[in-house]
Amino acid sequence: MDRHRSRSPTSSYHSRQSSYKRGRDDPGGSYHENKSFRPHNHQHHQSGWTSGQGTPSSQSLSTRRELYERDFPVYKQPVEVGCFSLDSERRFFNDGRQMRYYVEPDRNPHFDLRDGYRDRFIKRDDSVKEKLDHILRWVIANRSKLKSKVPSASSSALDVDFVTWRGHLTKLLTTPYETREGWMLAVTRFGGTLYISEVETESARRERENRTERHEEMMYWGYKFEQYTCADTVHALPDPGGVVNTNEAFCTVVQTRLADHRLLFSGEVDCREKDPEAPPPPACYVELKTSAEICTPKQRSNLHRFKLLKWWAQSFLPGVPRVVAGFRDHEGVVVSVETFHISKISHLIKNEYNCWKPTVCMNFCCEFLSFVKRIATEDSHRVVYLFSWEPYKDVTYSVHRDSQYSFLPQWYIEEITRRPDSHHLS
Ligand code: A3P
Ligand code: MG
Repeated sequence: MDRHRSRSPTSSYHSRQSSYKRGRDDPGGSYHENKSFRPHNHQHHQSGWTSGQGTPSSQSLSTRRELYERDFPVYKQPVEVGCFSLDSERRFFNDGRQMRYYVEPDRNPHFDLRDGYRDRFIKRDDSVKEKLDHILRWVIANRSKLKSKVPSASSSALDVDFVTWRGHLTKLLTTPYETREGWMLAVTRFGGTLYISEVETESARRERENRTERHEEMMYWGYKFEQYTCADTVHALPDPGGVVNTNEAFCTVVQTRLADHRLLFSGEVDCREKDPEAPPPPACYVELKTSAEICTPKQRSNLHRFKLLKWWAQSFLPGVPRVVAGFRDHEGVVVSVETFHISKISHLIKNEYNCWKPTVCMNFCCEFLSFVKRIATEDSHRVVYLFSWEPYKDVTYSVHRDSQYSFLPQWYIEEITRRPDSHHLS
């Protein structure tokens, strides 16, 4: 039975007006040589935890931007610890067989993104919720890389605090600036590690089930752009006459640390540079994006204020250094291509009035992870702490035992708790 202990916000701040000062320096993108951004500073700051009677109460977390305006937290350079592939039928492989190679297009390529939508498109069934399953498969196949060095640690102990998808962390980073879509994140503490898996909100489900035909087609355009710019092997050329199958994916698995949170996460990577002299992953990876053509200064400003936030957050997390954007006209034809270096995005946005700040994103994520550690204390695969957020509200949570929200599969529990010497190496 569900033990439901829903917490409602005690803070009543609902204004979206951001009062942060402009002109502060945000590192927002370049890694320091010593593999971290900045040392911790010891400046006092207001906690994002809702303060009821002057002391931090623990039941909700504010997302107000100004609470997170302080020095950039330590974020270690992400290290790729492995990768995996999903084939055309969404089968898992513990290797990089789906990796693709970036082939630089003309600056004005005239790619027709509508081509093949009707007859050469196999769309992944997005009503199937895979939760963390692929990452968990990767963990089982690579657990020696993650094994706790503490000899007495139980066999289910991984040497990380959090396991999740990069996309879930992207949502956390952009939360202080999000005004439209809320989220729900299920958290289970198991073997000392916190697993975070998204739960589709009712409103996201409604939107998914009621997409317009135009929206469905536009979702295809991003994948079609990938097909125009990616080759399957290092010496091949892209094949725009082929089938676009969105079941296929190449995913990197990275390890890093945000302040005192040790993270292991995976994210889909579009392609890599083909130059054999290119730096090792993730520095050789390239993220591909499409966006509407920019014709006015206002449109450029909107790109900086809204799209670059999402692009930056998604690529900054795994240490992907650049985004190649194809700008398309109303007919879905890519009319220009531009590269955005993640390390330069914070400079690009400096001149925008009332713009997003990388430090706010990272500090909010960091506080959220601390909040999760503090709330999700019972170590059991049967318990889910469900964290929920809606725009203009605080983050709240509820607790569920043996419920529909449980997401760690039985096969994972069994495999990970096996004695290491009885483990079959794959
Ligand atoms: P664009 O990013 O060019 O729009 P990603 O860029 O994250 O690798 O995703 C590849 C493509 O998947 C996107 O290309 C878009 O076509 C589609 N896509 C991903 N997430 C989506 C979302 N939430 N809504 C609509 N389309 C999405
Ligand atoms: Mg992409």
